[in-house]
Amino acid sequence: MSGTSSEHGIKKVVVIGGGQMGGGIAQISAVAGFETVVFDVSADQVKRCEATHDKLLTRAVEKGRMTADDAAAAKGRISYTSDLKNAKGGDIVIEAVVEDLGVKQQVFGQVLEHYKGSNAILASNTSSISITAMAASVEKAGGDASKFIGMHFFYPVPVMKLVEVIRGLQTSDEVVARTIALAEAMGKTALAANDRAGFVSNRVLMPMINEGFYALMEGVAEPEAIDGIMQLGCNFPMGPLRLADFIGLDTCCHIMNVLAEGLNSDRYKPCPLLKQLVEAGRLGNKTMRGVYKYD
Ligand code: CAA
Ligand code: NAD
Repeated sequence: MSGTSSEHGIKKVVVIGGGQMGGGIAQISAVAGFETVVFDVSADQVKRCEATHDKLLTRAVEKGRMTADDAAAAKGRISYTSDLKNAKGGDIVIEAVVEDLGVKQQVFGQVLEHYKGSNAILASNTSSISITAMAASVEKAGGDASKFIGMHFFYPVPVMKLVEVIRGLQTSDEVVARTIALAEAMGKTALAANDRAGFVSNRVLMPMINEGFYALMEGVAEPEAIDGIMQLGCNFPMGPLRLADFIGLDTCCHIMNVLAEGLNSDRYKPCPLLKQLVEAGRLGNKTMRGVYKYD
């Protein structure tokens, strides 16, 4: 159990957003021994998040990865809420809402109503957005920009080993060190990247996915062939189109927009077909339909 380690000084983790990523972060946090709160504006999503935890923890027990007692204890450390007042008192707040700077700024503004003067680290799980810009808006809202950091987990969080740690211009050395110690306490490897649009992971991954959509749009091959070629020919665990469905087409589209603006080049703009699928509400696995249909 790592909930009392002095290196990170963190006992209570608050996760804002209980979707694909927030749910996963909350799960590994509780399994690692931290008291954990998940907040989502949607009461339905809060229920879905809890149901997913029940399913995944039960599966971990069935697979012999944890005992039933440890799974029950982990579950007992998580509380679920759609009222932000119940998300007070965290030693770190990890934001995992939609990939939109305006929404994230608004969320941190609301969080700060309960965290002014607190020593808590404020972290964003953003895939691509400037940590420096978010830290500046936190400062404007009365928070401390030196305590703001990027803590980028990967989906599915319980399985993927990496946390990409991104320091903004204002982030203190102490907050970087504590965040790395926390990621390690959660069983992850932390690697640092500088604060440029998309950091390292999505600067490299997302244009490849976008190119998969161009290949589909231009009729280079059928979706199964595009994915099969990349999977079998390049040894990727999933082809780019299936991976886009898995991540969420809305998230992919948001990231490409951030890359295009942040790197000041139209070559990063989302492929029209990707945009069109998002406009149709086909967001991938989470809506049961994206490039592919799911049961
Ligand atoms: N949530 C939790 N666990 C999941 C899961 C999910 N959504 N999907 C799969 N798993 C678990 C399975 O339960 C399984 O665990 P068990 O041992 O309990 O069976 C384990 O992962 C392996 O799954 P499978 O055996 O069914 O399938 P697999 O061997 O093909 O692995 C995979 C599945 C790990 C997802 C693999 O296909 C993979 O690595 N895919 C690529 C994932 C990837 O690239 N992620 C990064 C996305 S980019 C990102 O996250 C950054 C960003 O900002 C967008
Ligand atoms: P998601 O759509 O599954 O979940 C987002 C959640 O945020 C939803 O449950 C929604 O109800 C909630 N939400 C929206 N506005 C809110 C608000 N004002 N307050 C509280 N909750 C709010 O998305 P996701 O895939 O979990 O992505 C979340 C963040 O994580 C994004 O910034 C994304 O770029 C990043 N990320 C995604 C992945 C991925 O593979 N999906 C990987 C790494 C990072």
